[in-house]
Amino acid sequence: MSKITNICCIGAGYVGGPTMAVIAAKCPHIKVTIVDLNVARIAAWNDENLDNLPVYEPGLDKIVGEARGRNLFFTTEVEKAIDEAQMIFISVNTPTKTYGLGKGKAADLKYIELCARQIAAVAKDDKIVVEKSTLPVRTAEAVRSILDNTGNGVKFQILSNPEFLAEGTAMEDLLAPDRVLIGGDTDAEGVAAIDALVEVYANWIPKERILTTNVWSSELSKLTANAFLAQRVSSINAMSELCEKTGADVSEVARAIGMDSRIGPKFLKASVGFGGSCFQKDILNLVYIAKSYGLDEVADYWEQVIIMNDHQKRRFAANMVKTLYNTVSGKKIAFLGWAFKKDTNDTRESAAIYVADDLLYEQAGIAVYDPKVEEAQILSDLNYLESRTPEQNQKGITVFADPYEACKDAHAIAILTEWDEFKGYDWQRIYDNMKKPAFVFDGRNVLDGEYLKSLGFVFHVIGR
Ligand code: UDX
Ligand code: UDX
Ligand code: ADP
Repeated sequence: MSKITNICCIGAGYVGGPTMAVIAAKCPHIKVTIVDLNVARIAAWNDENLDNLPVYEPGLDKIVGEARGRNLFFTTEVEKAIDEAQMIFISVNTPTKTYGLGKGKAADLKYIELCARQIAAVAKDDKIVVEKSTLPVRTAEAVRSILDNTGNGVKFQILSNPEFLAEGTAMEDLLAPDRVLIGGDTDAEGVAAIDALVEVYANWIPKERILTTNVWSSELSKLTANAFLAQRVSSINAMSELCEKTGADVSEVARAIGMDSRIGPKFLKASVGFGGSCFQKDILNLVYIAKSYGLDEVADYWEQVIIMNDHQKRRFAANMVKTLYNTVSGKKIAFLGWAFKKDTNDTRESAAIYVADDLLYEQAGIAVYDPKVEEAQILSDLNYLESRTPEQNQKGITVFADPYEACKDAHAIAILTEWDEFKGYDWQRIYDNMKKPAFVFDGRNVLDGEYLKSLGFVFHVIGR
């Protein structure tokens, strides 16, 4: 395979958008075209006002602004882009199945299959197809089987190139990744395809950080990395509950164990529970795959990470109700934060959704403020749970553009996302305008509890 000069990426989402923007910025000699079926999303990527990009990610606007129109293009013309590209990234969403066999556990691969079929139908010359979405192990096999049975004599190489970027720090993660992982076939043609992709990344990443493996190792490494990270969060969250009972402080415990170089200091923040599009989905995939091979102990081991996370969200809501004299019915409860972590507008699997759902069951009135999440998204997140009708959700939730308005007359405030701006608020003003006693439940350990208590707040935080 000669040098890559034309790349196409199917799927202009949180992964495809930022990843391709960085490839385009770092490889001016490669034309990068991102396609998506969603017309509104492509229009937003092409919006002259870079504040309107569909993905909020610090630094993304600058990189898109530089490369767009030069060698970075966003379009809905899927077939043309596939036809022209030598290398095609598949970066479409792979949600957990909501129907049929494997419902609630297995990944829904229908979007991936559609992509494979489209590539098969359009391709007139040899192509390298790169799996970028998070996929269960052995998806490459399915994609290969679809591509190899088109009958038009075109040769495809399938690579697995999992994404390790974290939202909110995607630009740093892409510009200086810990490692890039590329899995492919071990025969000569497979190795040539791997080399072609290595050459793309080598434009800005030192070669010793680019690992190559077989396809299966690459696919499984992605699930394993996310499972280990999620497990750390569930482990510290399990300790947080024990800390609350024993008088230990989870931050002190995290610091003490994190200094052990075998454990390390990262990913030890107790929280109201992990969210995001990957952790839960990937572990569910792992559990499903292990079960499908009859490995019940392996499946049960990893499933416990999810069980703990669900428990952490539930107990946060339950603790609020209990503290507010066993009833929140008719009370205004302010939520600061809705995104699953700071510096992103992504809300998938955010703990806030589940805490809100529990409090709505208790007939609370919820007032939400998040600096980057829009009302339509918040309602759609709740409606997706199908716990009650959309009208009932709408009645229970009010979304505010101003945090002080959200907190006015509230009985309690819950911090659900660790946005930096929350620390700098005028907490005296917030206190003065709340019902008394004024409660704060810090689900992210971001506020200065001693200061808040000195103002008169009743302050609760996870793990203390
Ligand atoms: C994750 C992986 O980090 C990334 O490598 C992979 O490509 C995709 O999945 P992401 O979901 O974007 O990235 O964010 P991450 O920073 O991993 O946080 C996931 C969740 O865990 C968030 O809800 C976060 O608030 C929570 N978390 C993280 C904690 O509660 N405590 C921690 O110490 C760390
Ligand atoms: C452990 C702790 O490391 C130490 O900090 C504490 O004070 C006492 O308990 P120890 O039991 O002496 O120390 O040895 P350690 O090196 O931790 O190994 C424990 C077991 O885990 C051994 O059987 C070892 O073979 C096994 N192990 C360790 C693995 O199987 N894989 C690994 O990657 C590491
Ligand atoms: P991720 O976090 O994995 O990037 P997103 O949901 O943010 O997931 O993005 C996936 C994108 O893929 C969506 O914008 C969706 O419209 C797009 N998509 C899904 N299937 C196809 C397809 N067959 N062709 C083109 N785009 C697709």
